[in-house]
Amino acid sequence: MTALNLDLMDPKSFADGVPYEHFRHLRDSAPVSRGTDTDGEPLWHVVRHRDVSAVSRDARTFSSSPTTMTSIRKVDPSPPIITFLDGAEHTRVRKLTFKVFAPARLAALRAPIRGIVDSLLEEARDKGEFDLAEDIALRLPFEVLLELLDIPRQDRATMLGWARRTVNLGDQEYGDDAGPNPFQQIHAYLHDFAHHRAAHPADDCFSLLLDARLDGAERLGLPDRLTPDEVGLFASTLITAGIETTYCSVTGGVLALLDHPDQLARLREDRGMLPSAAAEVLRWVTPVTHFARRAVTDTEIAGQPVAAGEKVVVWYSSANRDERVFTDPDRFDLGRTPNPQLSFGGGGPHVCIGNGLAVLELREFLDGVADLLPRLELVEAPARPETNFMNSVKHLHVRLH
Ligand code: HEM
Repeated sequence: MTALNLDLMDPKSFADGVPYEHFRHLRDSAPVSRGTDTDGEPLWHVVRHRDVSAVSRDARTFSSSPTTMTSIRKVDPSPPIITFLDGAEHTRVRKLTFKVFAPARLAALRAPIRGIVDSLLEEARDKGEFDLAEDIALRLPFEVLLELLDIPRQDRATMLGWARRTVNLGDQEYGDDAGPNPFQQIHAYLHDFAHHRAAHPADDCFSLLLDARLDGAERLGLPDRLTPDEVGLFASTLITAGIETTYCSVTGGVLALLDHPDQLARLREDRGMLPSAAAEVLRWVTPVTHFARRAVTDTEIAGQPVAAGEKVVVWYSSANRDERVFTDPDRFDLGRTPNPQLSFGGGGPHVCIGNGLAVLELREFLDGVADLLPRLELVEAPARPETNFMNSVKHLHVRLH
């Protein structure tokens, strides 16, 4: 198979890792190229940083409705989650929910996040040999989100069981098609909890969401508040959007640091590097490889005509290695500045709403793990799940020496 006819929609094309060489080839010779989704629908692959940004920012031309997923990981688009909304409907939900991530709330979470990082690392240290993916990378964002959402303590273990089954979806090892759908279980729980909070308000995240009001909503013919159903749906979106992504940045970050001891040594010497280190880990790993949009009018991308109705796939994994933007893009450099990485999206209205939280988690994790890493060794090379959507690993078995 030559580099140019690799099928990017086939998860097997990612079996040995993200096909960076193929993306480089495309950036050079076919920056907007034809492809086919697994359901047979023709689509366009967009691989340069500038074009990924332009498509993401032009939400009038490139719609997120009815879905931004490619067919390999379908998510039922009804009722539409925030990710699949356009225009005023999207702005309404975004503004009404943004309070959850307000700077003051995030600042207050910093100490609890550090507490979670330290206790997970201590537990792992006591074991001596552990699966960093399951024991830390999964539990960190999960426990942080339960804290953010103020989920009652007695229900957290059940939620963790469900959340575990939403990671690496599509891979045989995790798939249990016969069992109840974990997304539906999470959604049902949070939906009921939102209704409970509507009847019994408290000083917590759900009440904050239920109390929020949007000025000027009536002018747009839209409700000025979220219903309990919408609050339950938004909270479940956070669980699904916030866990697996952070999981990948933690596992991928650890692997990158183990592979680059010189960079680990730099970080250990100078913790002032944590902000640029977190950004570089995000660029290097690019947890979400791509999302899709749909052109609503005839348009063009970098001179390539795109017809109304056609699907466009924006590849963050490629944009983050674009040599037109990043000097020596295949070098892992924790001091890289500037670092306009697109791991949270290419900008525009849908850019990751949880990016501040994700960065906070990653910085605290890198700070906590930096002193442990020189004593860690891989027990076996981590296997990749079968997916072209997340840059993930299944397990990360490590031992202390
Ligand atoms: C390293 C971690 C993360 C990565 C790499 C990541 C990546 C992304 C990307 C690529 C998008 C789509 C942007 C676009 O379409 O333009 C997105 C959207 C979103 N993310 Fe994240 N994310 C991360 C963590 C989180 C966390 C921690 C949360 C919440 C707790 C979160 C919640 C969301 C939500 C709700 C959206 C949809 C926003 C909208 O459509 O307006 N993400 N994220």
